[in-house]
Amino acid sequence: MKTPQFIQLHHEDSGQIRTELLQGLQATQAYTSPKYLYDALGSKLFEAITELPEYYPTRTEATIFAEHAKLMAGHIPQGATLVDLGAGNCQKAARLFGALGPSRYVAVDISVDFLKDAMTRLQYQHPDLDMIGVGMDFAESLALPKEALEGMTPRVFFYPGSSIGNFTPDEALAFLQRIRAVCSEQGGLLIGVDLVKGKAELEVAYDDALGVTAAFNRNMLVHINRLIGGDFHIKDWLHVALYNEQLARIEMHLQAKRDVALRWSVYGEATTQRSFAKGERIHTENSYKWTVDGFGDLLQNAGFAKPIVWTDVEQKFAVMWAAI
Ligand code: AVJ
Repeated sequence: MKTPQFIQLHHEDSGQIRTELLQGLQATQAYTSPKYLYDALGSKLFEAITELPEYYPTRTEATIFAEHAKLMAGHIPQGATLVDLGAGNCQKAARLFGALGPSRYVAVDISVDFLKDAMTRLQYQHPDLDMIGVGMDFAESLALPKEALEGMTPRVFFYPGSSIGNFTPDEALAFLQRIRAVCSEQGGLLIGVDLVKGKAELEVAYDDALGVTAAFNRNMLVHINRLIGGDFHIKDWLHVALYNEQLARIEMHLQAKRDVALRWSVYGEATTQRSFAKGERIHTENSYKWTVDGFGDLLQNAGFAKPIVWTDVEQKFAVMWAAI
């Protein structure tokens, strides 16, 4: 039996994190990066979101893969190096191993620690598969380690979950171009994309009745307190999710319920750094929605071929295979 190999490339720089966070929090229109939604509790809350009746993307995408895996396998090369971007528990990719028969599985996530248990377990089910876990911030750079790229097998990138929606269209184009640049001959990208739909359906998907998405959003403040020594009180902040039809994106915000004077520590001393008036918001996440044609154009602008598209019957979500 083979054993997975683990390579940690990216190391968090706490100074950089602090600078980035403070820059956003001190901007006139305060904003934070959605990556701060994912501390240990935030990741669990996101998993809970995927089980909610209102949050259709995860379950719809799973249905599309389950129904069309065989057809997909007719277009995607067998024996490829499968590069899973944001692999987490590796389950989505593992469900495709049967149909795609990869020769190597490269799981990428921000920290190899997230990958170790899942990949070690997965190796027992696929004893002959080469498995490499890579810890890197793939949104910043796609410079994969040489171990991941060795050999002549085609490179198939896998980016499910509609995480591409966190990027603005310009950022998404740049990101897809970077993937295109590291695709080998016969390679390509298998990607999940959430589709434009009615405002009401979108807004409940991001503001569920149980309040799990609200908890997920508000928990970011606890995470930020830990990172910058801040004194956000969760009770002062309201979860807001709205669909911006012009920009075709869900926006998540945290809205001050009263005037808030925010302190965070500077050289160990907490002093007031920013005031928020009642009703003022911090913009915490964008989740862009695409049309099938719009995303197809984006892929082609990034240098891919016109994609092959699979959707659910209600056209809520699409999975696209873009060859090079
Ligand atoms: C993980 C970025 C795909 O945008 O739907 C879910 C994150 N935010 N509910 C999404 C999220 C609020 C999710 N992505």
